[in-house]
Amino acid sequence: MRNKILCFGFFFMFLAYLIYVPIPENIEEPWKVRIVDAGMKISSLVAILLENMGLMKFEEFLVILARVQDTRPVSDENITVIDTDFGDIPVRLYLPKRKSQRQRPGIIFIHGGAYALGSFKMLPYDSMNRRTANKLDAVVIALDYRLAPQHPFPAALEDCIFVIKFFLQDKVLEKYGVDPTRICISGDSSGGSLAATANQLLQDDPEYKNKIKAQTLLYPKVQTLDTLTPSYREYEHGPFLSRKVAIRLACLYLTEDKQLPKTVMRNAHVPQESRHLFKFVNWSDFLPEKYKKNRVYTEPIIGKLTESHPGLMDSKISPLLVNDSQLQKLPLTYVLTCEHDILRDDGLIYVTRLRNVGVPITHDHIEDGIHGAILFATEPLYLQVGLRLIDKYIIWLKENL
Ligand SMILES: *[C@@H]1O[C@H](CO)[C@@H](O)[C@H](O)[C@H]1NC(C)=O
Ligand SMILES: *[C@@H]1O[C@H](CO)[C@@H](O)[C@H](O)[C@H]1NC(C)=O
Ligand SMILES: *[C@@H]1O[C@H](CO)[C@@H](O)[C@H](O)[C@H]1NC(C)=O
Repeated sequence: MRNKILCFGFFFMFLAYLIYVPIPENIEEPWKVRIVDAGMKISSLVAILLENMGLMKFEEFLVILARVQDTRPVSDENITVIDTDFGDIPVRLYLPKRKSQRQRPGIIFIHGGAYALGSFKMLPYDSMNRRTANKLDAVVIALDYRLAPQHPFPAALEDCIFVIKFFLQDKVLEKYGVDPTRICISGDSSGGSLAATANQLLQDDPEYKNKIKAQTLLYPKVQTLDTLTPSYREYEHGPFLSRKVAIRLACLYLTEDKQLPKTVMRNAHVPQESRHLFKFVNWSDFLPEKYKKNRVYTEPIIGKLTESHPGLMDSKISPLLVNDSQLQKLPLTYVLTCEHDILRDDGLIYVTRLRNVGVPITHDHIEDGIHGAILFATEPLYLQVGLRLIDKYIIWLKENL
């Protein structure tokens, strides 16, 4: 009886979300977007409920939902798909079957999921990586780094760097027929953060620097210093990714202590001694006029966390926090940002900073794009905008890698 009442409750909530929650006007396929959005909001409500009932942790329920989408490695007529390990880190390889006279480009893909969820096995990622390999005639390597909270900072980053270095060895590139002058590191969302950070760190290492031709960052998260940028405010409730869920999950990369997400929600997590870093998120300096809407940047409240979380201010979590001379070394860059995204300004600020120091960069801003849309470019809830984002990414690679 109780279960039935709960089910009815959630069903009516779903309906209410579908009908009443406003979605932005320029959105394509509004009803499909409503359904996905309502589904995501209900999922996080269920996750909160389960946690409050003591049945499982918030993130555990979301991990289960993501796992449902896992696929096995299935080869098709064009691409051989293999799951294997580099060291002890799981990777999925996409190797084109057709004969090639010359070596192929190589792409290392790092998935998103706020450091706590997701896998290259998920159908949307599998389908995107397969499409990339096929359309570009490229070797694609997707990797599964260790997830939070079991494996906190910097485990995910260490795994990404390990896989990149492993792949960049001459003998490995040769084995897969990859051209050492045509390699790109890609990632979406928190995977974009990992890709951006890995690129920064590897630029200081001559052995690897010359082998990374490009980086592609799809709606990347590049900072945790300020969670009230104009886009965080405008898209606080989504569509899709809400500020609360994003902060709650991302904080797990540092700690399971519930105090941290609460403090970050108030945007009061930066201590006095890190105040000098606000210059990197001062969007009055970095955002195009139209996004400022006549407002000016004001410094967040200076915080006093009882416990210190060194990673919080570390450029290995927030790649935006490095100085210009470090940014200058970065390779050819592609950044894709979506308008309907709390992380929109993260991407826009990074683009401006890279441009200012002369890094060759292409930026695509998708006016009707939504954060996470590439995860909805497969059946059953196939969104046109998801496929459009993926195609933008592939076209850029085709022309530049
Ligand atoms: C294989 O490649 C051809 C040519 O690009 C394409 O028409 C076909 O749909 C591809 N097959 C699959 C399963 O993707
Ligand atoms: C942000 O940048 C603007 C423009 O350069 C400047 O006037 C303002 O003082 C800066 N704000 C803070 C809080 O640093
Ligand atoms: C930039 O940061 C690096 C690493 O923290 C440091 O070694 C370098 O001196 C800094 N450069 C400038 C111009 O501040």
